Amino acid sequence: MATRRRTWRGRIAAAALLLPTLLAGCGGSQNTLAPHSHAASDISNLFWVMTGIAFGGLALVTGLLVWAWVTRRRRGFRATDPADPHPGEKPAWFVVIGGGVVFPLMVILALFIVGDWAVLNVTQAPAASSTAMTVDAVGHQWYWAFRYPGTKAVTADELHIPVDTRVNLVATTADVIHSFWVPELNRKIDTIPGRQNRILLYADKVGVYRGQCAEFCGLQHAHMGMLVFVQPKTQFRAWLRKQSAPAPAPTTALARRGEDAFLSGPCSSCHAIRGTSARGFVGPDLTHLASRTTLAGVLIPNSRSYLARWIVDSQHLKPGNQMPDFHLTGSKLDALVAYLEGLR
Ligand code: CUA
Repeated sequence: MATRRRTWRGRIAAAALLLPTLLAGCGGSQNTLAPHSHAASDISNLFWVMTGIAFGGLALVTGLLVWAWVTRRRRGFRATDPADPHPGEKPAWFVVIGGGVVFPLMVILALFIVGDWAVLNVTQAPAASSTAMTVDAVGHQWYWAFRYPGTKAVTADELHIPVDTRVNLVATTADVIHSFWVPELNRKIDTIPGRQNRILLYADKVGVYRGQCAEFCGLQHAHMGMLVFVQPKTQFRAWLRKQSAPAPAPTTALARRGEDAFLSGPCSSCHAIRGTSARGFVGPDLTHLASRTTLAGVLIPNSRSYLARWIVDSQHLKPGNQMPDFHLTGSKLDALVAYLEGLR
């Protein structure tokens, strides 16, 4: 008996210890409960309404059970005839039908109306005419390419949008099914081969919002993150102008050697750099690589050392990705990194 009690006490203590760890998952930068758009607010409110109703239902059922147990105890348990276990008690049909069928149906219907009509409509893809701009998000194993129709701007993993602006996000895929999800801004939208799916992207506050591919898409699904930079409108316009321009020419002798190595070697068969002969489309567009803060689906920071490591050892950093390891050392690697770092 003592052992059993100790075991239960241990379990309760373990659960109490785990609770903060579980709750810690509710914070951070991918928090559905920290909404920054109308759509995300409605999703968050719906969550609280559903949680409230679920706990209300739990309290009601638990209360009824306790009430039945207490009243039965008060009356005292009697040895009964198995053919008529509750002599003199008639089953209350209105309780069974009302509490077991009508009431749950009403709750589910109310949730359906709130969830489907009210919330889904707000999160829905907008009519093209109601948005100020369009961004194309293309899922790749394993990175996101973002294009801005009407301009030449292409970026990877780091999407920029202006604050307080309704953006029509068109999600497509270059290979398998992915899912575009920025929890603080809206619900998920899948990228389906051969289809264009749209969602409203809107942010009411300047800042950086983290997103994640939310559909299992292969070995590196977990490392298919993205960042949404929400900028003041003028700052965004300046960014877009810069991103639309071709790559700047290398300014140092070292970077010029790096450019030669890039264009004459295997890099250019997979990557594009606008303004040069590199037109590959397997890997991310590198025209303004140095303007990005991260590499490889937000896996590593875009620093000189990580960039060099990525070139020589990307299969160790992100196994299975499309980029082979290049066994470069010394001056050739330095030149390549110097060139890429100049792509602002
Ligand atoms: Cu792309 Cu998961």
